Amino acid sequence: MKKLTELYSGKAKSVYATDDADRVIMEFRDDTSAFDGLKIVQLARKGKVNNKFNAFIMEKLSAAGVPTHFERLLSDNEVLVKKLQMIPVECVVRNIAAGSLCKRLGISEGQELNPPTLEFFLKNDALHDPMINEYHIRSFGWASDAEVAIMKDLTFRANNVLKTLFANAGILLVDYKLEFGRFNGTIILGDEFSPDGCRLWDATTRKKLDKDRFRQDLGDVIEGYEEVARRLGVEL
Ligand code: TMP
Ligand code: ASP
Repeated sequence: MKKLTELYSGKAKSVYATDDADRVIMEFRDDTSAFDGLKIVQLARKGKVNNKFNAFIMEKLSAAGVPTHFERLLSDNEVLVKKLQMIPVECVVRNIAAGSLCKRLGISEGQELNPPTLEFFLKNDALHDPMINEYHIRSFGWASDAEVAIMKDLTFRANNVLKTLFANAGILLVDYKLEFGRFNGTIILGDEFSPDGCRLWDATTRKKLDKDRFRQDLGDVIEGYEEVARRLGVEL
């Protein structure tokens, strides 16, 4: 698989064309961003850890019937994926209150959400990823009703798989963000699943092991990611 020109460079990953029009290479960089790119720092080993972590999770999701863009790892920092037409909507599921939900609704961090809740955000850094609803998605044509129904179903299906996976490693899956895209007329999971885009707490101590360590300057950011990877059995 030949790596050709760079198609896109995001805050933490770059995407390259290949000699196959339907496949692209994602490169996980060490750049770590928070607050919509306001805070960006390089953290050693992050690209590698997130690449391996993402591959592990994508394979679990795929085995559980959630279609994903993942094809195969190419190197420590690179993965081959299907080229999707991305939908600019972030799907967030929350099992426990944290982050923007607490600020928005005055809820204390740690409150269990039963049933889990789902929110949509528009992928737009300049606007700080505003929260949107299904009517916005429909009115602005970001996705059809049928596509939204599939995204919701797959996002909740992923919750069932991942909550158990993390629970077996003594970790609470607090919340996470998924992004979907179109491939040959079907909706499949794209982007990444890593501690950059979810919240993970130790089940006993509630110690944060995800990107909140970076957002909140708690230190040992990658050590937290590696701890989760080690407990899950991800080969780094
Ligand atoms: P929030 O509490 O900031 O709304 O985020 C909820 C979860 O979704 C959290 O695990 C972080 C993730 N997320 C991203 O990774 N990128 C984003 O742009 C947004 C809005 C959320
Ligand atoms: N993913 C966004 C960023 O990188 C928001 C965040 O994680 O705080 O800036």
